Amino acid sequence: METVKLNNHVEMPILGFGVYQISLSDTKRCVMDALETGYRLIDTAQYYGNEAGVGEAVTASGIPRNKIFITTKIQSNRNVTGLIDASLEKLRTDYIDLLLIHWVMGNDLATYRVMEESVKQGKVRAIGLSNFYGRDFDNIINHCEIMPAVNQLETHVFYQNRDLRALYKKNGTYLEAWAPFGEGKANMFKNPILAGIAREHNRTVAQVILRFLIQSDIIVIPKSTHKERMVENINVFDFSLCEEDMRKIEALDKNESLFGWY
Ligand SMILES: NC(=O)c1ccc[n+]([C@@H]2O[C@H](COP(=O)([O-])OP(=O)(O)OC[C@H]3O[C@@H](n4cnc5c(N)ncnc54)[C@H](OP(=O)(O)O)[C@@H]3O)[C@@H](O)[C@H]2O)c1
Repeated sequence: METVKLNNHVEMPILGFGVYQISLSDTKRCVMDALETGYRLIDTAQYYGNEAGVGEAVTASGIPRNKIFITTKIQSNRNVTGLIDASLEKLRTDYIDLLLIHWVMGNDLATYRVMEESVKQGKVRAIGLSNFYGRDFDNIINHCEIMPAVNQLETHVFYQNRDLRALYKKNGTYLEAWAPFGEGKANMFKNPILAGIAREHNRTVAQVILRFLIQSDIIVIPKSTHKERMVENINVFDFSLCEEDMRKIEALDKNESLFGWY
């Protein structure tokens, strides 16, 4: 698995497995399938209600803990230390690899400071943000001690966040793409440009999408409950897109959310 080096030198796989909208009862099976398929980054959140399933799968897999990278996200700004400890317990681990504030909640700088403390205490290896834009992002980077290692944002071929990527490069914050397939909205899997490129490479549209994002230096965490799709989605490291393919896909950018949250 290819990795990226975060701004504190922690290595993170560039492709992982997202578990949003997977029920708690199905999470253990899905994460075990993903680990068996070769995924080593699992992206969960307190909000998803399935951290316990991730913890069960990681333990049951028999894979050494230090070979698996676990991301989780905090959903509230109250008793942040208690929240972190609760995640550690559900995930059955004594450290979290990457901890994010899930979205802007108010008091975010205070929350972030507790997260910084948790890094010093060894409970967390890297910290960052999710769904932080504009002034909310600036408020953290202008006052923090530890620069956010990532900002996890809706990012896909129709919403590429190119300006933000350039900005983040300055302080070493990685862009991590949530919903790399836009959850299939806007007919993404049937887009004729993507389908044409996929045909040329004898690949699927999903693989072309992930390859495009990875080649753009974006961390991706596609979700699937189907093992054959997990296999499809991880098999993107043995081909590459040429400059012309990249330009064609860059031209699909509408710079607009498919979810209307932001
Ligand atoms: N920070 C945030 O606010 C935030 C928000 C949303 C998501 N996320 C994270 O990002 C991860 C990914 O985003 P997402 O789950 O929203 O959506 P996504 O990965 O863009 O899309 C998932 C959808 O695509 C389908 N799919 C997966 N692989 C496929 C393939 N090869 N061919 C055809 N269809 C395929 C899945 O169906 P099946 O499952 O039926 O295969 C599912 O319906 C989440 O799981 C979560 O970890 C974070």
